[in-house]
Amino acid sequence: MSLFVKKPLEQLLAQGNEKGLKRTLGAGNLIALGIGAIIGAGLFVRTAAAAGQAAGPAVTISFIVAAIGCAFAGLCYAEFASMIPVAGSAYAYSYVTMGELVAWIIGWALIMEYALGAATVSIAWSEYLNKLLGGGIPYEWCHSPFESYTDSLGVLHQGLINAPALVILLALTLLLIKGTQESATFNSIIVFVKVGIVLLFIFIGWKFINPANHSPYMIPEGTPAVTDSAGKIIADYSGFFKHGIGGVLGGAAIVFFAFIGFDAVSTAAQEAKNPKRDMPIGILGSLVVCTILYILFGHVLTGVANWQDFVDPEKGREASVAYAISTYMPGYEWLSTAVTIAILAGFSSVILVMLMGQSRVFYTMSQDGLVPKVLSDLHPRFQTPYKANMILFVFVGLFSAFVPGHVAGDLTSFGTLFAFVLVSIGVWLLRIKSPNIERPFKSPLSSPYFPLVPILGAVICGAMIVALDAQTLTVAMGWMVLGLIVYFVYSKKNSKLQNAQK
Ligand code: ALA
Repeated sequence: MSLFVKKPLEQLLAQGNEKGLKRTLGAGNLIALGIGAIIGAGLFVRTAAAAGQAAGPAVTISFIVAAIGCAFAGLCYAEFASMIPVAGSAYAYSYVTMGELVAWIIGWALIMEYALGAATVSIAWSEYLNKLLGGGIPYEWCHSPFESYTDSLGVLHQGLINAPALVILLALTLLLIKGTQESATFNSIIVFVKVGIVLLFIFIGWKFINPANHSPYMIPEGTPAVTDSAGKIIADYSGFFKHGIGGVLGGAAIVFFAFIGFDAVSTAAQEAKNPKRDMPIGILGSLVVCTILYILFGHVLTGVANWQDFVDPEKGREASVAYAISTYMPGYEWLSTAVTIAILAGFSSVILVMLMGQSRVFYTMSQDGLVPKVLSDLHPRFQTPYKANMILFVFVGLFSAFVPGHVAGDLTSFGTLFAFVLVSIGVWLLRIKSPNIERPFKSPLSSPYFPLVPILGAVICGAMIVALDAQTLTVAMGWMVLGLIVYFVYSKKNSKLQNAQK
């Protein structure tokens, strides 16, 4: 039995036509699904973190760098998603192109993307809820045990469990179990509100830009580290990726999180009415809309508040947008409240799409026998993989409750970038191996002899992996090794494809 046994493309396509998940989503739904997954904690939390810790106002350029990497990978995703319109996304594509072991590795990395992505955003949700409640939730009940700081009065605040993050996860898990169409409708409403509030902040905030905040545009070399009142360093600008041009790149790795999600559209391919036409529209359309919004948003946010405010736990380190409005935009307190409510709703849609994406990846892996069958059991009435959703709640909940947001966020970026690299390579390999398959959408400059787009996608995303910090890379490697053990102990033996070949 080969570790690189490949699923025949015809079999995969036939699997997509089998009875199972319902085809209910149109192009509009798919773009909404994309935007629903994309605009979230990355924009409303990590923009300020990237500005405060690495890029300064030049976070706008960081957005451009991250968007370029995503665009190349996005083109490759669009080619695959239109050609192989089945649930499971990058996992399913690589099963055809690179064989079972690589597919498994991607599936395992996608758990990091979707499950930990959902955890990260639920943690951000908790942050903004606390802001809405005027900081009324005690620090220990809305932070992980790994977080603490000493305030200006010398009082130590120590986290215990992030309870609000668990509550939102549970609510959305129940909604997902109810049905894809219901979830898509809920999502479309939220996307409308979310984009509206981003535009409102840009238009109103523009008048409050203080040009002094944009100068200098990058964090100068030699900027002293920032400490809390007990002397603990909370921001250090000495490293290469922490100031100047290097800081812009470091910022790109941080805000990359804001783009995660456009690929989630591809996990819903099996539920799209006309996937060949609508998948590329959904993936690339949502990416373009979000990139434009992000650059404008970053410009306004760092113009209204100074980037240095975004490192101070008693200023704008948490719930940065609400902070900027209430501190620097007099007369717009209502906007601060409206933004906070919209952000809470907006985060919900991100979590929803992430959870849905993960359950769909599990669904497909389970149909292949690589993970237990329980993960593809459909609810008799709602036709959703409800057991997968519940198991996922427990798994994601552990991270939401006990892991700091930035740790979960960086691991999410690793999983996503890793999948992007392999999808980019996969498009090229399939062009060589099966040049004649119908490709309703062809990624440009990707011919077998001149695969510029796949190479740039793989290289830029690979570089962003390298730019992640050493601790993230170590934990991520541990996760991948665990995945290999599971593969050899369980998945290889239970693989339907392997067993069919015996
Ligand atoms: N891109 C998503 C967010 O920013 C994951 O929350």
